[in-house]
Amino acid sequence: MSLFQLEDIKKEFKHGSTKEQILKGIDLELNKGELTALVGASGSGKSTLLTIAAGLQDLSDGSITFGGKNMSAMNAEGVREIRAKHFGFVFQHAHLVPFLTVREQLELMLDTAETKWSKKSRAARIEDALTTVDMREHKDSYPENLSGGEKQRVAIARAIIHEPQILFADEPTASLDSKRSVEVIELIERLARELNITVLMVTHDNDMLEYAERIVEMKDGKIIEF
Ligand SMILES: Nc1ncnc2c1ncn2[C@@H]1O[C@H](COP(=O)(O)OP(=O)(O)O)[C@@H](O)[C@H]1O
Ligand SMILES: [Mg+2]
Repeated sequence: MSLFQLEDIKKEFKHGSTKEQILKGIDLELNKGELTALVGASGSGKSTLLTIAAGLQDLSDGSITFGGKNMSAMNAEGVREIRAKHFGFVFQHAHLVPFLTVREQLELMLDTAETKWSKKSRAARIEDALTTVDMREHKDSYPENLSGGEKQRVAIARAIIHEPQILFADEPTASLDSKRSVEVIELIERLARELNITVLMVTHDNDMLEYAERIVEMKDGKIIEF
């Protein structure tokens, strides 16, 4: 079932008086619970496409439809609300707050989330998310005492704590060694399979592709292969 549609997405950046077209009409659909890998050479526009899809950056032309709603026709507040309720994000680096414990990182996320939960359901959510990423025993640790893979697992817990429908991941394994990369990709694959989260993941690493149900390749701002 198609949950998310990108239609004829274009993006241009101005360099002085000239305009450069970075995305040249992208069509892409994401199906519920499916893990789609986005690959392509550096500079081909993967991160630009991902951030536009996630509502983190404006598009120049085209339309984005999520759950039947046309996001590109919404004002900034409407997009922000969808993003906060239904989207989660993971990047190459975990970007944890250095002076907060693992549990506090997640509490902070719930404090700023769109939906307000009772104290009891907040605690249950934190336990669930930490169990999902297998980090319960580290809940009182600070980031400096965690390995790169553990930090990324906390970043994933933080990204899913509000039960998003779509997870956008930009090179989530790029700063990890191969063993930690496999742990993180297996976790992301499990989010799709068991929690039915739709995942769009940019990756450079061919070893990650076997976990994807679909592989989409970009070249020079266009999709060249499904
Ligand atoms: N904010 C921006 N302003 C101008 N050019 C940009 C901006 N963001 C990205 N670009 C350009 O768009 C192209 C694609 O970048 P990006 O989407 O980051 O590619 P990828 O993630 O595939 O490496 C690059 O040439 C980059 O320099
Ligand atoms: Mg990129």
